[in-house]
Amino acid sequence: MLEKQRCLSNIIETRGLSKTFNGRIVLDNIDLNIPRGSIFALIGPNGAGKTTLIRILLGLYKPTTGTFSIYTHNNDDNYNIRKDIGFMLHSPGLYPVLSSYENLALYARIYKIDNERERIEHLLELVGLTEYRDEKVHILSKGMRQKLVLARAILHDPELLILDEPTVGLEVETKIWFREFISNFVMNGDKTVLISSHELSELEKICTDVAILRKGKVAGVYNKFDLNETSLEDLYLKSGERD
Ligand SMILES: Nc1ncnc2c1ncn2[C@@H]1O[C@H](COP(=O)(O)OP(=O)(O)OP(=O)(O)O)[C@@H](O)[C@H]1O
Ligand SMILES: [Mg+2]
Repeated sequence: MLEKQRCLSNIIETRGLSKTFNGRIVLDNIDLNIPRGSIFALIGPNGAGKTTLIRILLGLYKPTTGTFSIYTHNNDDNYNIRKDIGFMLHSPGLYPVLSSYENLALYARIYKIDNERERIEHLLELVGLTEYRDEKVHILSKGMRQKLVLARAILHDPELLILDEPTVGLEVETKIWFREFISNFVMNGDKTVLISSHELSELEKICTDVAILRKGKVAGVYNKFDLNETSLEDLYLKSGERD
């Protein structure tokens, strides 16, 4: 019963999650609950461990100790759970000599997407790249490439979207576009976004929950009620004063 209740309210839970690289502790006993339907921001200084935590959740690193659970529709199976998760990491991983369409088509085959052509054309339209459908990716601007990576991340209509600094280096209009996209993505309440970013003013406008990581530890967890009271920057700076 307890297990079922936990499954309903949180999409991700970590318990005592730690990661050590060459004897250096990078994540130290992380206990986090990420509510289903939230836009959950993961913030903290450079080197705090945000990307490491994300890579563990994506199965790219093994935790040194501790556990984590992801409660999505296919959570009974380690392979199938990938169908429920979309992600954007630092390295875009696009094929520069393939077109926008071909880059998405490769992944559509991996995910065995039905109506591949329709879905890809819909996503190119959504991210404003229809005009660049057949252009090779190496001619696209950075903002266009980031939008293409986002289109790839949501190709299989994932329940959980994990974004690691999706808007770094982008112009203001594109940052606003990403912000609006994220808000719309969770609108129906059945999808969740975990986002790591240094853009506190952008996050503040959309996030419902936030965890601050400092030196591999959780230095604070806040929800939308706390965020109504205090700015994200103040919460961030105050968490540093306790170091
Ligand atoms: N594969 C690795 N091998 C060794 N050390 C690593 C590895 N990946 C990360 N680290 C170290 O772990 C620490 C945390 O790095 P991480 O990239 O998780 O930080 P971050 O919070 O994402 O920082 P940023 O805001 O700069 O992206 C850093 O000291 C980094 O050097
Ligand atoms: Mg990082």
